[in-house]
This record gives sequence, C-alpha cells and structure tokens, in this order.
Amino acid sequence: PKVAVLLGGPSAEREVSLSSGHACAAALRDEGFDVVEVDAGPDLVARLQDIKPDAVLNCLHGRWGEDGCVQGLLEWIGVPYSHSGVLASALAMDKQRSKEVFRAAGLPVVESVICAKADVMAGHVMSPPYVVKPNNEGSSVGVYLVGLDNNGPPQLEDTMPAEVMVETFAPGRELTTSVMGDRALTVTDIITTGWYDYDAKYKPGGSTHVVPADVPQEIFDLCMEYAVRAHQALGCRGISRTDFRWDEARGAAGLILLETNTQPGMTPTSLSPEQAEKTGMSFGKLCRWMVEDASC
Ligand code: DAL
Ligand code: MG
Repeated sequence: PKVAVLLGGPSAEREVSLSSGHACAAALRDEGFDVVEVDAGPDLVARLQDIKPDAVLNCLHGRWGEDGCVQGLLEWIGVPYSHSGVLASALAMDKQRSKEVFRAAGLPVVESVICAKADVMAGHVMSPPYVVKPNNEGSSVGVYLVGLDNNGPPQLEDTMPAEVMVETFAPGRELTTSVMGDRALTVTDIITTGWYDYDAKYKPGGSTHVVPADVPQEIFDLCMEYAVRAHQALGCRGISRTDFRWDEARGAAGLILLETNTQPGMTPTSLSPEQAEKTGMSFGKLCRWMVEDASC
C-alpha cells in the first residue's frame, strides 16, 4: 500500500514534525510500505491528488496540522488519515475549551483564563505562580512561568498571539500516558533538572524518562484511567497522549490533567513510541498500526 506521510508544515513545531515524519517514513519503508513524504503547504490537495495514497499518516504538529484544519481537508478529498478527526483535533488544540470538556467529564484540571496579551503584560492577572501559554501551540513553545520571585508581569514576545491562556501553576512531577484506540499503554515519569521545555523535550539527554513510572499503584492507575477518559471525552481516534502533573504531597488529589495531545511526537526522544516499545510494540509496528487505523 501507498502511504503519504505528512510532515513539516508552517507551524511553530515544524522542526519537531520533520523529525517525527522522517522517523515514521523510514519505519514504514522497513515495514514494506510505499512511502511518499509530503511537506504540507498550500499545494497539499494537488500533491495528494497526484500521489493517490491509500492512506495518510499525519505527522504534523501544532496549528493547521493538529487543530482540525488538515483533517477537514482530508475528509473533503476522501483520503483516509491517521489520528483524530476534525472535532477532536480542534477541541484538543484549544487548551481552554478542552479543559471545559475535561471538567464536564469529571477530570481534574487547574483554573485558567483567556486574556488579552496586553492585559497580561500590564499587571498580574492572577496571583503568582502562574503559567502563560498560547492557547493553541505545543512543545512548550511560548510558555512563560511567572514564579513567586518574579517582580512584575511577563514581557511576552511579539510572536505570542493577541490572546493567551493564563493558568494556575500546578507543581509536581511530569507524568504522561499514551492511549492507542481505547487502551492506555503505560505511565512515564519525566525527570528534568529544570523546566520540561523545548530543549528538554528534544535534545538527546535533555530529560530522563522512567517507564513504567515509579509511582504508587493508585497514581499509576489514575493516569491510565484519566488518559482513556480524556481520549474518549474529546472523541479522539488512533493514538493520543495525555500529560499530567502530580503533586506528591497531596496524594491522589494532587494529580492534575494538563492536556491531551492528538498528534503526539514521534521523534527519537518522544514519549509515545517509547511507551509502545516498553509494552512490546516496536516503532515499526506502531507506525503500521497508525496507518491501518486510518479512516475518513
Ligand atoms: N506537541 C508535541 C509534538 C507532543 O505533544 O509530543
Ligand atoms: Mg502539547
């Protein structure tokens, strides 16, 4: 079968997507697929109509590729594609609205508000510590931590959108769980010396992953349960990855769901492929599963 691997694209996570896409394309070739790598741009429809793939493996991250836009386009031209559909993608990419869905589903999230960038820079919009982030980006691009020792409000870069999300800072360990279909894989504990930022995510050695996480069984089970419930509440398809913070001192009440990623990274340092591997599924088999799961 012929597979078009979508990668690159114009989002802030372009480099991450190139890394995910190249890794998946190589693995699919080893699995015997006929693979064409397509850097997603305005000529995408024409390229796909020319290539006539049996399925698309979507390796895009961030805006346009993860937010329902490309999914709608693929529905329109009738090409089966991997991962979540239009609605789940759009909902998950909007951090504020996805939280409303999580809250309605009884899942634990922290308070947040959408604010004008100018207001965030003019004064503290909530008492520190808090986090300022774009409402619709990934990979920690444009994330500001305003700590107790910050004297003033953050000065946001010009590249930040006009409206941003301001969220209560949730302290604790970084835990994450991938869901394939309706099955949670395992829990990873991400250990970093500082913030789990862009460099810690993608530089080799930038962070250490403990898989399966060495946490109490109750916390492990809650992550597995919450990840499946989050996946289902948003209506996700294929693979997703849900990120948590766990404040050990507060026990089970200290477990907070940060977000669900509908296009989890597939780079060499990424979490979902590692979780699949630990549960007995090679990277090649994971890529094959994502392609075989494609629909439209
Ligand atoms: N946004 C990155 C790709 C992730 O969630 O893995
Ligand atoms: Mg994310």
